[in-house]
Amino acid sequence: MDNESPTLYLYFVAFVASLSSLQFGFHIGELNSPQKVISCESLPPDTHNSSFPSCIRMTSIQYAFVTSIFNLGGLIGSLLASRVADSKGRKWTLFYNNLFLILGPLFMGSAFSVFSLAVGRALSGIGSGVVTVVVAMYLSEVSTPEYRGTFGVMNQLGIVIGILFAQVEGLYLSTIPGWRLILLTGGIIGLIQTILLGFVVESPKYLATLPDGYTAAKKSLQKLRGTLNVDSELNSWKPMAAGVLEGLISGNEDNFEVDSPSVVVDGDDDNNNSETPAVVFHARNRDAHDDINFWKFISNSHYRPALIVVLLLQLTQQFSGINAVMFYSTTILGEIIPDKSELVTVYISIVNTIMTVVSAVLIDKAGRKILLLFSISSMAMASTVLAFSITQDYAILAALSIILFVATFAIGLGPIPFLVTPEIVDIHAVATAASLGMSLNWISNFTVSLLFLSAKEALGGNVFYFFTGVLIVAFSLVRRYMPETKGKTVEEVWKS
Ligand code: GLC
Repeated sequence: MDNESPTLYLYFVAFVASLSSLQFGFHIGELNSPQKVISCESLPPDTHNSSFPSCIRMTSIQYAFVTSIFNLGGLIGSLLASRVADSKGRKWTLFYNNLFLILGPLFMGSAFSVFSLAVGRALSGIGSGVVTVVVAMYLSEVSTPEYRGTFGVMNQLGIVIGILFAQVEGLYLSTIPGWRLILLTGGIIGLIQTILLGFVVESPKYLATLPDGYTAAKKSLQKLRGTLNVDSELNSWKPMAAGVLEGLISGNEDNFEVDSPSVVVDGDDDNNNSETPAVVFHARNRDAHDDINFWKFISNSHYRPALIVVLLLQLTQQFSGINAVMFYSTTILGEIIPDKSELVTVYISIVNTIMTVVSAVLIDKAGRKILLLFSISSMAMASTVLAFSITQDYAILAALSIILFVATFAIGLGPIPFLVTPEIVDIHAVATAASLGMSLNWISNFTVSLLFLSAKEALGGNVFYFFTGVLIVAFSLVRRYMPETKGKTVEEVWKS
């Protein structure tokens, strides 16, 4: 059998890749707790003569600018990521990307002005944008088909643990000079991960698309599976070329060749001869490989069903109001447990983390679609109760509905949009699709955060009825357009 339980090495590889997501999550959370300390609000003006001031005088608008320039960086990073991931490979993209994720924290941790803080934050944003595109893809490409869901969820698990880590650090280190250590932490994780990446293989599926990449792809797969007999898995990638044969890539199938053009032996699981040649289609040259650009992906009707699902899921994830609720939770729950609002935020993140683990366990058994529909409908219920309980001043009910909202997000709508993209788009277009989807995710995240506060002021708790509406519409669209992907190849997904 080629596809057995994941090897320890595969867990290690997934762990190392998820350290990128952890850095991204850390950056999401790092500026929340230490705001007052960093911006000199809770301190007298700086009296130190050192080149590192004890705090950086900022208005709340400047602080908001520093916080949100991260999103602009994220958008740029996610737009650039596909080209780099397709030309340099997934592993090396993560490796070079750590330059941003190390320099950013260095700038922030050693900041002496608002400007240097903002530069650091923007660099961390660019690095995070790249991470959001590449990690999910890489995890999907190294994983065994049966455990693809579980490994895919590790991306979101990295993100939520990163958020939690930043919040816990914020509880203890929102001091002078502790805040500098908080802002440096992302870079320290980046440094450790850069070293660990040296022990990780390149994605075999990516290698298989390169000129002369067959041997390297096979070697990588053998290492990941812990066996020499990987031919039937390699053969199962043959349909990767579906797009090629339909002339989608470069409009010309002559740009592609078959590496070992022998007959494909179906179901050769029992064949222990590791030299059985497998068929892998790859580009004759880089240009052909790079050719599915944004425009081609959007305009080609072959990719239309996948395009709809990718965009729908990313939009739903952000317009569900998850970040509004996570943010608002501090205010609402802080009323029930006064003076402990930061601790409460940590509890919410712990729920988020635990339920993401539950999702990792369930996803390859239940399937993606059912979990996602369950998640969306439960979130719709939770946001309705939340709106009602805020407007009626039922604090405990509000608290319970926030927990339900975050918990049911974590089970489905958190991880699934990221992991589904590589399951529904073939290898030649997946990076482009992920870049496109993630740039929409960044834009939507930014829009919701920007509009939420004024909407909340105008509408009060009723604002959460808007999210209920979004979730109800999303439920019916997901039910209609999203295929089940559990254990299937891209070709099988669209055949059924
Ligand atoms: C997902 C979302 C992100 C959100 C997080 C919360 O990763 O993309 O915006 O903050 O989940 O768990």
